[in-house]
Amino acid sequence: MTPDSATERWPVLVTRRLPQGAMDAIGERCDVDLWEGPPEAIPRDDLLKRIGGKAGAVTLLTEKVDGELLEAAGPQLRIVANYAVGFDNIDIEECTRRGVMASNTPEVLTDTTADLAWSLLMAAGRRISEGDRLLRSRREWIWGPEMMLGQDVHHKVLGVVGFGRIGQAVARRAAGFGMRVIYFDVFRPPPEVERGVGAEFREFHDLLQEADFISIHVALTPETRHLFGAEQFRRMKPTAVIVNTSRGPVIDEAALSEALRSGEIFAAGLDVFEHEPEVHPGLLELENATIIPHLGSATVETRHAMGMLAAENLIAALEGRRPPTLLNPEAWERTRGG
Ligand code: DGY
Repeated sequence: MTPDSATERWPVLVTRRLPQGAMDAIGERCDVDLWEGPPEAIPRDDLLKRIGGKAGAVTLLTEKVDGELLEAAGPQLRIVANYAVGFDNIDIEECTRRGVMASNTPEVLTDTTADLAWSLLMAAGRRISEGDRLLRSRREWIWGPEMMLGQDVHHKVLGVVGFGRIGQAVARRAAGFGMRVIYFDVFRPPPEVERGVGAEFREFHDLLQEADFISIHVALTPETRHLFGAEQFRRMKPTAVIVNTSRGPVIDEAALSEALRSGEIFAAGLDVFEHEPEVHPGLLELENATIIPHLGSATVETRHAMGMLAAENLIAALEGRRPPTLLNPEAWERTRGG
């Protein structure tokens, strides 16, 4: 921190109200321009107008941070602190080229998102939301030996696709259910990580055939867009359950909807959607699709922690310190060099 930066206040844009602790932390050091328009995300035109002249911004996954936005902001913009671990909404290369730091909120949401993936896995496998809908419909029902049968979870095979922090946390939870865990990732971790988690590597197409439950934890990139489509669903077991808490476009939703409708696979648990917030109309009709509105990290504790981390990243960059979870160290090096 330079002597002046102790008293200096910076103009910043916050694109949606954050949990109070984070708003307070940012408000202590910055003049905050807050978009107060939920449930909608800040319209693009407003975003482009209001980012102008700001020293920093806290953005959400609903805001595209690209060349156009950085241009509209002006050369004084030092940091874009994303309130999410995923950062497919940010053009990191463009930020780096312009010397703008970008940060995300990893670690603090790992366990919460893993818990949610398990909630969906159980709900889809055991038809929980379908049962809830049945009772609320007030239709008549009576206990029966073959009523609403699901799939056993315990002692089955869990396939984790994307073996980063969240994928590993999901895998670790499987031990309590006596499951065998296999995983696929393009980056293979050292053998001690595999051993520690108790997971065995499989090629992607082998995992599809062997797993009873598949949980997706990849980042959205051009390579992972539609990683799951008609061909992948065909390879899976007819009893298979697929869970997605990563990013919607990793699954071709039209193909998934058809695979669920035709019984090619048993069920899906989805937290994220290809054209979020829209949900493919086919999925809305299906009892075997458990769908929830992007709640992976949505707990009081975790959203607070994400807010505090985003605030810390923002203020660190403004004070001339290195943000703790910086995505583009090259931009930091450039700032330090003047
Ligand atoms: C993320 O952090 O990337 C989530 O999708 C929102 O918590």
